Amino acid sequence: MPPTVTTQPPLYDTADAVARIAAASRRTQQPQSRADLVSLAMGEPDFDTPQRVTEAAQASLGAGRTHYSPLLGEPLLREALAAKLAGIAQAPVSAADILITQGGTAGLAASILGIVNPGDKVVIPDPTYSLYGDLVAMAGGTVVPVPLAPDLHWDLDRLADALADAKLFVFCNPVNPTGIVHSREELEVLADLLDGTPTIVISDEAYADLDYTGRPFTSAISVEGLRERTLYCQTFSKSYAMTGWRVGYLWGPSPLIQASARVHNTFNGSVNTVVQDAALVAVESCAEDVARMRAAYEERREIMRAELTAIPGLTLSAPEGAFYQFPRYDLDLPSVEVVAALRTTYGVAVRPGSEFGAQGEHHLRLSYAAGPEAIVEGVRRLADGLAALR
Ligand SMILES: Cc1ncc(COP(=O)(O)O)c(C=O)c1O
Repeated sequence: MPPTVTTQPPLYDTADAVARIAAASRRTQQPQSRADLVSLAMGEPDFDTPQRVTEAAQASLGAGRTHYSPLLGEPLLREALAAKLAGIAQAPVSAADILITQGGTAGLAASILGIVNPGDKVVIPDPTYSLYGDLVAMAGGTVVPVPLAPDLHWDLDRLADALADAKLFVFCNPVNPTGIVHSREELEVLADLLDGTPTIVISDEAYADLDYTGRPFTSAISVEGLRERTLYCQTFSKSYAMTGWRVGYLWGPSPLIQASARVHNTFNGSVNTVVQDAALVAVESCAEDVARMRAAYEERREIMRAELTAIPGLTLSAPEGAFYQFPRYDLDLPSVEVVAALRTTYGVAVRPGSEFGAQGEHHLRLSYAAGPEAIVEGVRRLADGLAALR
């Protein structure tokens, strides 16, 4: 007689939202690092946080600033950010419409969960930063990925089609993973496409200070027709080498900020007081540090590009901003397999292009936030690995 099969209910019945994220997520967990591994995988500056920021945090602790901060954030920090954004937007910016967040991640989470209802259509470029799709899945929305043009900029015809009836369009500029910078002209076309629609835009400008095009960087909030519909998402992580501090901010139309604040406060309460005191010093007096690190990344970009050009079978992206190269390779192997082989056998860690969207397949994401020696050695190992996989 066959054994009787009884279906047991799961021991711990977790939320559908968790299953939706797991089903949608393309994110790969970085395996444990090894001493002999060269990593070009991390989107993380190898610089220390500027000293005066660290000192400000120590002074704040010494002054006993260890109590709850206001729910939208410290007033002095919000005032300083409003003044900075007014310069970028070339329009009045009220500190009342700034929400300090637990890094860019929580800013994106608060804004997406504050906007998206189950079933809502959310357009994202493909490939793009992988968190957006996961957050839309968490909210129960439907992600509509729009493949990029061959030069990795937006395919405006496809974007126009996809944006019909979209509740939200989420993008980053400069772009993780492609390193592309969207120009003022592209943003103006986006404004025209959305004219007369209620579609909301989230512009994630985490890498705004890392633009090597020689043109002034164009923020979405400086473009007429986008500003009124855009939630601007920013973080201190990249510009100020403050990834571990977990501080960022949102600015946008008051009702959208109120909605985001409701979600953010429910998840996080207020943001760490000492960290906000330190962030104020970053905004007010670290412009030279930002410029110094940016200049270093620009040099590293050249080092990486020169090393990569010598590798047969790689098509390079135009690295205009952020600190990423997104080369396409000509092997008939999925990027997760290439990445696993490079890591295990050749001792170099990079990210699979498929992590950032189906169209990212057959690409690798390399970060030049690593130091120059790591870049040269890492690309040498990449070249050996790709040659052996042929
Ligand atoms: C485009 C983009 N936005 C947001 C973030 C998240 O930044 P944070 O460290 O502030 O959470 C990242 C981090 O890699 C990113 O690449």
